[in-house]
Amino acid sequence: MDAKKLPYWEFSCLILLCFLPAISKASWMWLGIASLGTVNQPSDTNPPASSSPGLARTQPTTLGQSVCSLVPGLAHEQRTVCEQRPEAIPVIGAGARLGITECQRQFRDERWNCTIHDQEQNAFGKVLKTGSRETAFVYAITSAGVVHAVTKTCSLGNLTDCSCDESRNGMVNAEGWQWGGCSDNLDYGIHIGRQFVDAGEVRRDEEEGKSSRVRGAMNLHNNEVGRQMIQQLMSRQCRCHGVSGSCTVKSCWNTMPDFLVVGDHLKKRYQRSVEILNRPSKRRLRRKDRAQRKAPIGRDEMVHLERSPNYCVRDPSKGIMGTLGRECNRTSDGASSCDLLCCGRGYNTQEVRLVERCDCRFIWCCEVKCRICETVTDLYTCK
Ligand SMILES: *[C@@H]1O[C@H](CO)[C@@H](O)[C@H](O)[C@H]1NC(C)=O
Ligand SMILES: *[C@@H]1O[C@H](CO)[C@@H](O)[C@H](O)[C@H]1NC(C)=O
Ligand SMILES: *[C@@H]1O[C@H](CO)[C@@H](O)[C@H](O)[C@H]1NC(C)=O
Repeated sequence: MDAKKLPYWEFSCLILLCFLPAISKASWMWLGIASLGTVNQPSDTNPPASSSPGLARTQPTTLGQSVCSLVPGLAHEQRTVCEQRPEAIPVIGAGARLGITECQRQFRDERWNCTIHDQEQNAFGKVLKTGSRETAFVYAITSAGVVHAVTKTCSLGNLTDCSCDESRNGMVNAEGWQWGGCSDNLDYGIHIGRQFVDAGEVRRDEEEGKSSRVRGAMNLHNNEVGRQMIQQLMSRQCRCHGVSGSCTVKSCWNTMPDFLVVGDHLKKRYQRSVEILNRPSKRRLRRKDRAQRKAPIGRDEMVHLERSPNYCVRDPSKGIMGTLGRECNRTSDGASSCDLLCCGRGYNTQEVRLVERCDCRFIWCCEVKCRICETVTDLYTCK
């Protein structure tokens, strides 16, 4: 097969297929780990072993269709998006990956550290079966990741259906500056998010019936929390023009937050997540806390249905890894402290010798001289 002639998205789709889990009940989130294997140089890769041999030879439109039908676990509506805009699929995958990476960064010191199970249907494993606040965070951050990735790609001009918002360019604002440059346009990213990411929940309702309605509503709500977060964190950037930066003309554009900032804010929402009532037959979400039941739940509040397990002891049936062997911090008093991380079981101490170059000096000309230093640090791991 002549992989070089395939446009970027088609190639990515083929690569995705190499990593398909052999499970039909997958969720779209695994696109985030599947695309970890995406390589930019087609010639360096072997033909995908798991894809059907005739795939590369079919015409582009049918290639889109056949690729989409091979991606497991897509709901009907998701398959429609895939067929209509196959070039969006790798971008959605990149968005899921952005969410996963940020989740791991936010939780690196905690008992549940956003572990990825690459053999499982939804990348996060069985942990998502529980309607906990960790699950709430996963939905919000991956949904936000999709909006972010799609919008960035639109601004770069790499998707055909969208671009920067330049509708106001040239207009002068009341404050005296003028619109100019590339304003990130969230509309398309949010639209794709609602259409693609949310569609997974509709399927879930159909399959699992009424009992999972509240859970579906919880997921949809948290998806929206993720999208709204990006909207709320939009800011304006300006550039000055004029003689030596005199700023006689100032042009400004709207820009998305850095995704790390989105992660920080969603982590705070996670900490304040609202527990909701489990009323299987009703879709509307209500607070569990009686005293506050009248207060409607806002789009800026993450919601969960169940208390979190403590994640201390390994339990594969629930997708819990346990904290045995995790590195802890003896001097910290936060989540990474040996007390909290090891759940009171205690920890092992190990001496680690590190030999490295130190006290380096630059000697004219041109030499760098260093000393060899040995440092000994203690490594603490949970029992
Ligand atoms: C976007 O498109 C340009 C050229 O059209 C290409 O060089 C670049 O790699 C693309 N970027 C991504 C992230 O796909
Ligand atoms: C998360 O914790 C598990 C053990 O519970 C460990 O094997 C894994 O490397 C950790 N992952 C990250 C990303 O820190
Ligand atoms: C342990 O925690 C302390 C206090 O929070 C911090 O200063 C230190 O860098 C941490 N050590 C490691 C190895 O992370």
